[in-house]
Amino acid sequence: PTTVAKRDFLTLLDYSKEEIIQLIDEAFALEENPIQPVLKGKTLAMIFEKSSTRTRVSFETGMLHLGGHALFLSSQDLQLGRGEPVSDTAKVLSGYVDAIMIRTFGHDKIEELAKHASIPVINGLTDLFHPCQALADLKTIYRLKEKFNGVKTAYLGDGNNVAHSLMIAAAKVGMDFSLGCPVGYEPDASIVEEAKKLAEETGANIVITNDPIEAVHNADIIYTDVWASMGQESEQQQRLVAFKDFQVNDALVSHAKADYHFLHCLPAHREEEVTASIIDGEHSAVFEQAENRLHVQKALLKKLLG
Ligand code: CP
Ligand code: NVA
Repeated sequence: PTTVAKRDFLTLLDYSKEEIIQLIDEAFALEENPIQPVLKGKTLAMIFEKSSTRTRVSFETGMLHLGGHALFLSSQDLQLGRGEPVSDTAKVLSGYVDAIMIRTFGHDKIEELAKHASIPVINGLTDLFHPCQALADLKTIYRLKEKFNGVKTAYLGDGNNVAHSLMIAAAKVGMDFSLGCPVGYEPDASIVEEAKKLAEETGANIVITNDPIEAVHNADIIYTDVWASMGQESEQQQRLVAFKDFQVNDALVSHAKADYHFLHCLPAHREEEVTASIIDGEHSAVFEQAENRLHVQKALLKKLLG
């Protein structure tokens, strides 16, 4: 067991603006020079309690590029899925591997895991946050706009994990952020308050509105996510009705800047939260955004494990 202080990546709230910018710079460098065996002999355990395409493949490939190894651990196959305590799992894995990435439901579970693990714990998505996604989003936006100050990102839809992390990311780097959502689907009030506090220092303007047109007005970036997240499948029908005015379509994007870019963390549901005309159209950067998960997570792995 190690006694060296470890660093987790549970939410961007724990990272300074300088650290976030450094991670993005490092991600650009890794994109240029992808094979860097700095994590030789190191292993990342990846626990998935929910489905994944991007997170799993980008972390697994990223570890290989850095000379290390990744273990895919479905919670169904782990004793965790049969009721072994999270704290015991954390202590056991700490004796075998060098870091744990976990995708789970309640954020309290990842906090519990991090508390009992002596090695870094990385958030691969919880119900509350998706910080790896927000790092990739920042890198994508920086490549497209070459700055954050004065850029307006509009997020349309559910005030969910992706929205929370993007809002914090924007507040940290000084990017304007407006979130348009139906009544009752607002982001967590305490996270909005934290973001607004951070924004006072960085000059970002953070707006939460129930008016989709106000949200996208003059936006440089339009972002959306699914209306029913993993774990909310039973609410699908009611959400289709509630979110209908928040669909990103040709009429709505006409209120953004003419040279706007469209982003989506994926997976997407065409003709629900976004029309095919937009996500498959010339303003869309969603596949570059998806690729950026690989580059930013390698930067993060290098920082936490290197
Ligand atoms: N955006 C994202 O996290 O994708 P996956 O669910 O495929 O990992
Ligand atoms: N909000 C979505 C993001 C998926 C990457 C979910 O939690 O299912």
